[in-house]
Amino acid sequence: MRKPRRLSNEELAPWVWSRPTPHHTPEGKGECEAARGFASGSSPQPINWHTLFGNANPVEIEVGTGKGLFLLNASLARPDTNFFGIEIVRKYQLYAATRYAIRGLPNVKTACADAKAVLREFVPAESVTAVHVYFPDPWWKARHKKRRVFTPEFATLTARAIVPHGRLYIASDVEEYFDVMTAIVSAMPAFAIRPEEEELAAPRTEAGFATNFERKALDGGGAVWRAVYERTTESVATVTDPAG
Ligand SMILES: C[S@@+](CC[C@H](N)C(=O)[O-])C[C@H]1O[C@@H](n2cnc3c(N)ncnc32)[C@H](O)[C@@H]1O
Repeated sequence: MRKPRRLSNEELAPWVWSRPTPHHTPEGKGECEAARGFASGSSPQPINWHTLFGNANPVEIEVGTGKGLFLLNASLARPDTNFFGIEIVRKYQLYAATRYAIRGLPNVKTACADAKAVLREFVPAESVTAVHVYFPDPWWKARHKKRRVFTPEFATLTARAIVPHGRLYIASDVEEYFDVMTAIVSAMPAFAIRPEEEELAAPRTEAGFATNFERKALDGGGAVWRAVYERTTESVATVTDPAG
């Protein structure tokens, strides 16, 4: 991975969200402290978006930001929307945060954590206008599939977070995983598919891609599947995935 100019923790701080805790332990190089859930005994405090961003603009979440290209373009294109990216691998979170810091973008923040844990413990119900999930890791081996982020529990946590009439955007270059995701969401009365919006979802760069993995898929001649769902007004009961 090409290294961007290195910024200090202080310089990156405005672009980095950390869970509030009096005993914060510095995170290592790999997955984040909250990689698979926050430590037991912690008392989650819902994020106050207004306080975090310093304004009352709508908030959108991206899960699995990787190097952060989508949020870079989205936050530049839509300065009146706030963007919150959740990435489980610290080096990618810092890479993305550095891109935003270098440009001084006021409307984007990053979290280094398991998205499911953040959605469950820190995102207030009906508080975001969209959730984007682009090219989530497929975890090919059968014994690893339980690590996939997009599960029934994740989908219900996402539905809980999105305001009525908000949007869920998904894309994948793995047809089998895309089918799994769409089967989960299609079974939920909390979501209604919006096929007419597919092409508008995740605005492309001039080169024709929205994320790094989309570029890799298209450069390799592969296909990309995408779907857009509207959050209905149906209530949603959170389900829990079976323990891995
Ligand atoms: C295949 S990459 C796609 C990155 C980016 N969305 C793109 O399209 O270029 C998937 C990303 O999701 C991150 N990820 C995997 N599981 C996650 C989880 N539970 N919570 C947050 N991020 C996760 C990975 O570290 C990786 O950066």
